[in-house]
Amino acid sequence: MASLTDIAWSDFAALSLEAKRPYLARREGDGMPYHTLFAQQFDRALLVRLCALANRIRFINKSKEGALYLKSVLAHKRAMLYFSQPSSRTFLSHLAACQILGITTGSVRDAATSSEFKGESKEDSIRTFSSYFDMIIMRSPEQGLAEKMAWELSNSSRPIPILNAGSGKDQHPTQALLDIYTLVRSFENKGGLDGRTVVFCGDLLRGRTVRSLSYLLTNFRDVRQVFVAPKELQVPADVTDILTAKGVSYSVSGNLREAVRDADAVYMTRIQDEWDSSKGASARIDTSHFKFGAEELAVLKPDGVIMHPLPRRDEIATCCDHDPRAMYWRQMRNGMWIRAALIAATFGFEESVMNCGY
Ligand code: CP
Repeated sequence: MASLTDIAWSDFAALSLEAKRPYLARREGDGMPYHTLFAQQFDRALLVRLCALANRIRFINKSKEGALYLKSVLAHKRAMLYFSQPSSRTFLSHLAACQILGITTGSVRDAATSSEFKGESKEDSIRTFSSYFDMIIMRSPEQGLAEKMAWELSNSSRPIPILNAGSGKDQHPTQALLDIYTLVRSFENKGGLDGRTVVFCGDLLRGRTVRSLSYLLTNFRDVRQVFVAPKELQVPADVTDILTAKGVSYSVSGNLREAVRDADAVYMTRIQDEWDSSKGASARIDTSHFKFGAEELAVLKPDGVIMHPLPRRDEIATCCDHDPRAMYWRQMRNGMWIRAALIAATFGFEESVMNCGY
């Protein structure tokens, strides 16, 4: 079995994401990731298993006895939430997922409150966290940091798993898991996710959730992807190259209303102006045609869904919020369940939770 202890960092870093996958898997050989770093670690079989485990956990948690059982599952573990970029949902849903499973948590949410302020490197900070905790859940503006840290920790005397909670403009794998979980649940009694059309709209150039979800959708049969954005923010070639290589049908468009007519799911995203190379660059782009409002709602299929990783600004009008097709609030809560499933599975508790008597 491939192991990060058997490969130099430079050789590992040079591999394709697919080729990295076996190095990041649990040693037990059940296919589940040990380090979760990118969407390419998940195939359809794994997604099905995680969605089933998330469903099981949310069911068990309904009764007090079940909730107390869940709290005992990982009561012997501690997790560090290291978020050096702002977050509400990803931080809180991972925190809540840990609480559901009985994991004790610690957190750093601002490097200025840690010894990084005194000049400690991120590498040394993470190595320090591994002295006290059994898992690191980390968000960083630095693309590739989670991956480097996974290699470093696996080659240290205290190897512990890393969960990437958002890395630069690059990947947000657990967001993509909750997006898939939401899509699967939305269409489970309506013929499933295969054969659907998913429209992505907004800042597709810098949205890491789009990159991760676009890849995960390739695990489903005949799912067509439509990318709607101002030309300055259209989906980058690294995303469409994967779709082309996998034979996935996709198109790019500048017309949201037209795209919505054929959509089964519309995935809105905000303009990610925190990545602007010069102050106010995004504000000079005309984004007025890339907002979902009453007119788009009127042409959306009766069983279509509106999604958003959130936070939103004005790209979904609040008049849509109470429509039964607005899935973004449920999407947020689904994040807690699928993250609990991923954490339980990372520590090898998938089977025992699935088969518990609750
Ligand atoms: N979707 C998402 O990553 O939200 P937060 O930035 O609030 O965590």
